[in-house]
Amino acid sequence: MINIALPKGRLGEKVYALLSDVGYKCDAYDENSRKLIFRDEKGGVSYFWVKPADVAVYVERGAADVGVVGKDIIEDCSPDVYELADLGMGKCKMCVAAKCDWYDDTSRPLRVATKFINVAKKYYAKLGRDIEIIKLNGSIELAPILDMSDVIVDIVETGTTLRENNLKVFAEIFPISARLVANKASYRFKNKEILTLIQKISEEVKK
Ligand code: PRP
Repeated sequence: MINIALPKGRLGEKVYALLSDVGYKCDAYDENSRKLIFRDEKGGVSYFWVKPADVAVYVERGAADVGVVGKDIIEDCSPDVYELADLGMGKCKMCVAAKCDWYDDTSRPLRVATKFINVAKKYYAKLGRDIEIIKLNGSIELAPILDMSDVIVDIVETGTTLRENNLKVFAEIFPISARLVANKASYRFKNKEILTLIQKISEEVKK
């Protein structure tokens, strides 16, 4: 049995469709159900639906053998897992954004609003810029609009949220896409199953 943690939501559904196409279909799967675990004894696969930010935790602790996590979370949380494949889905960018007329007043620490504390700290440490982190959990774009922060470090996908709130990108930090990760012990003990899974996914992603 291979246990797979999927991020709840649109990306998870796309990943499930991909896995199902390459032979990991689960007959019990039902998109509209509130169930969190779907098992297919025959196919030897089990799916868990978890919050996107929690997938790495389930995989790191071995509750799931493999999972799908955004590069944003991998960079921010540095989970102790193997990163095995880029699924080429869920593409977006980690960016610094601010009000269009923002300029950096280097005489004081920069106020940075973000969900991604470690990404922001690492980025500004490299630049040697003092910052004050304002940790938020969502709607990060509000912070500079209300002058609570100078900039945000956040995900930009289509750019619509920034545009509609009169903000713009000042720097791109790194590109993001969904990655397949594996628990380190599972990778050893279920090596054949995991390598088969990666191979099937990689063939499909390349198409
Ligand atoms: C993410 C991100 C931006 C938005 C970017 O938020 O934090 O707000 O998507 O997408 P866009 O460039 O296509 O507009 P999410 O929808 O996850 O909600 P959140 O504000 O609760 O984090």
